[in-house]
Amino acid sequence: MPKFLITGSNRGIGLELTRQLQERGDYVIATCRNTSEELINLGVNIIDNVDISSGHSITKLKSKLKDIKLDCLIHNAGIAEYNSFEDLDPESIKKQFDINALSPLCMTRSLINLFNKKSKIAFITSRMGSIDDNTSGSSYGYRMSKVALSMAAKSLSIDLIKKEIFVAILHPGLVSTRMTGFTNNGISTKESAKGLLERIDSLNSSNSGKFFHANGEELPW
Ligand SMILES: NC(=O)c1ccc[n+]([C@@H]2O[C@H](COP(=O)([O-])OP(=O)(O)OC[C@H]3O[C@@H](n4cnc5c(N)ncnc54)[C@H](OP(=O)(O)O)[C@@H]3O)[C@@H](O)[C@H]2O)c1
Repeated sequence: MPKFLITGSNRGIGLELTRQLQERGDYVIATCRNTSEELINLGVNIIDNVDISSGHSITKLKSKLKDIKLDCLIHNAGIAEYNSFEDLDPESIKKQFDINALSPLCMTRSLINLFNKKSKIAFITSRMGSIDDNTSGSSYGYRMSKVALSMAAKSLSIDLIKKEIFVAILHPGLVSTRMTGFTNNGISTKESAKGLLERIDSLNSSNSGKFFHANGEELPW
């Protein structure tokens, strides 16, 4: 049974990814800071108190995982705070960089021994981190953190290919979650998670390190 580990699984896209993996019979280690009723009801293996930006928290997670081998790690957890040019808040920008970009990279480094040949690491980045696609400006902290995450993931795809570990760099779509104020313009978590899992399932040596929308479209950097 393939083993997946997901961050930020208590709500939003992470919760739905967990639900769909569980439904199709995969083994899910659902990590989160605080669990939720919806997550508990899925009956998966939950590890809470996992704050991805805390080294101590990741060390504790690693000791709980012991020698388990992971087929896939999905870096889903993230935050979005709005920073316009007129209202720049450097602390907010640093916090987003820390959680969205640096933490997934450091967590991957900490857990690297848990991967096998053909294991997969998926980074949920954002189209907001595409330089080519940026036509509306602003959102400094979120955009800067996600472009940094995509770059880290791209480098990892090159560094890990010799171990035959493949890296997915994925935009989930505009999704109706708390992050987007449950926007009516977005797709459902169900549709997004279905697409993300299709991308992860089709990840291999030839498309590792490419940037895809959940719907399969290859996105510009
Ligand atoms: N929704 C969209 O349209 C959209 C578009 C592009 C990319 N994304 C990306 O998709 C991912 C999931 O977003 P979402 O829409 O599902 O957002 P969400 O509903 O706000 O969920 C965010 C998740 O991340 C967790 N999280 C935040 N900081 C964390 C930390 N330091 N340690 C561990 N967990 C942390 C949250 O946990 P708590 O409950 O503890 O806060 C929550 O589980 C994010 O990376 C986001 O940037 C979303």
